[in-house]
Amino acid sequence: MAYLLATLLGVAAISGASCRTIPTDPPAAPTTSAASPAAQAAILPSPTATTVPTATPPPPTPVPTATSAPAPTVAVSPTPQAVSGAEARRHVERLAGELGSRPVGSTAGDAAAAYFASQLGSLGYAVEEQRFPVTYYDDSGSQLAITGPRPATLAARAMRYSPAGEVTAVVVEAGLGRPADFAGKPVRGKIVLVQRGELTLREKADNAAAAGAAAVIVSNSEPGNFAGTLGQPGSIPTVSIAQEEGTQLRRLLSQGEVTAHLRVRPLTVDGTAHNVVATRPGRLPGVVVVGAHYDSVPAGPGGNDNASGVGVAIEVARVLAARDYPYTVVVVAFGAEEIGLFGSKHFVAQLSAEERQQIIAMVNLDMVGVGENLRLAGSEELVALAEKAAGRLGLSPARLTDARAQASDHASFIAAGAPALFITRTPDPNYHTPEDKAAFVQPQLLAEVGNLAVEVLGEIGARGGQ
Ligand code: BES
Ligand code: ZN
Repeated sequence: MAYLLATLLGVAAISGASCRTIPTDPPAAPTTSAASPAAQAAILPSPTATTVPTATPPPPTPVPTATSAPAPTVAVSPTPQAVSGAEARRHVERLAGELGSRPVGSTAGDAAAAYFASQLGSLGYAVEEQRFPVTYYDDSGSQLAITGPRPATLAARAMRYSPAGEVTAVVVEAGLGRPADFAGKPVRGKIVLVQRGELTLREKADNAAAAGAAAVIVSNSEPGNFAGTLGQPGSIPTVSIAQEEGTQLRRLLSQGEVTAHLRVRPLTVDGTAHNVVATRPGRLPGVVVVGAHYDSVPAGPGGNDNASGVGVAIEVARVLAARDYPYTVVVVAFGAEEIGLFGSKHFVAQLSAEERQQIIAMVNLDMVGVGENLRLAGSEELVALAEKAAGRLGLSPARLTDARAQASDHASFIAAGAPALFITRTPDPNYHTPEDKAAFVQPQLLAEVGNLAVEVLGEIGARGGQ
């Protein structure tokens, strides 16, 4: 994509304020040190930024270094050397506390992306919105119940692209769902039962809709249920049931009138989502990417998953911008992670092979503010480097080895051949629940992860002659 190539060629236009905004809000929680004394000691003072055209000078204001909590009413400027847990937590408050749940396509999601864009713009980064298409369909709970003559529950599965809907009506049997199967049958407003086979599922649903049916049940032609699709958005709720349940339902119908209640509640996303890509050009060829997804699941406000990662990413961006960092820094807020890593897949897909090779490291921050255990996963060389960096900060992370090790945006980079590191924390008892609130995100844990990311990137930069 043009932006990265442009930055690599050193011709990127830099937007955003020329001097950094010093946050004046009081910290969200009583302020504690941004980094442990060990962490601060390990981070070298940054040299004067004379060679980086976009470097933002550190603030002239006094810098707090105290490890004890100052009066919570006093506004404190974060130090340019270290990630501030209080600042990162302030971002989490804004994203998860004020905006709340941020599923793909939501207004809150867009507002979260805009917030990240404005923060990174203020830090002197060139900010770009990167749009991509998303199509997603999830049967988030369909129900089919026989209400008469005797109540019974069937295990219905929404067909992909079935619209949402709720119908209570008489069930009418209509063979295979061919137009002739509906001829002379009172199907208007009714739930139609058809069998799988001969016609496409789409044709069956269209024929039923044309005959005036309110909903369609397709029974399988083999034992068990099946995952069917209408191919594209259909017009009436359509579900499948197991062959065995179809047989039972037909037997019931042969004995008299059967009424049923059907509810289809799919989560459908068919549109565009976007990443926010913030770039700060370096003087050496090579790119480091810091990423965090800003979307959440619909179920909850995504305080830890993943306002925490976005908050820390903004802080890491602030610290790197105050340094003479040699490489181009790209900080990305990924969209549509929760429905299949769409944002990061798109990010790597739109790079040329040459641009992909320029990526020295991607650091993914996801769920970093809850849980005692610091966890690492990803490319072996980066995990090893991060373990050493963590040791210097007095931290002892463990490796994440189960399926979660692949369950976030770094996986898209690794799949595309770019080295990536995943930093996360476990356990989070509120994962993907309404309880994943900003209030449970701990500034101290955010600071720990942020300073580890900075230490890792600092080490990579030092190799390049920082
Ligand atoms: N942050 C989670 C993944 C995660 C969970 C990492 C717990 C570490 C500990 C991520 O947002 C997520 O929920 N991912 C999906 C998979 C993805 C491919 C849609 C998941 O794990 O279900
Ligand atoms: Zn996540």
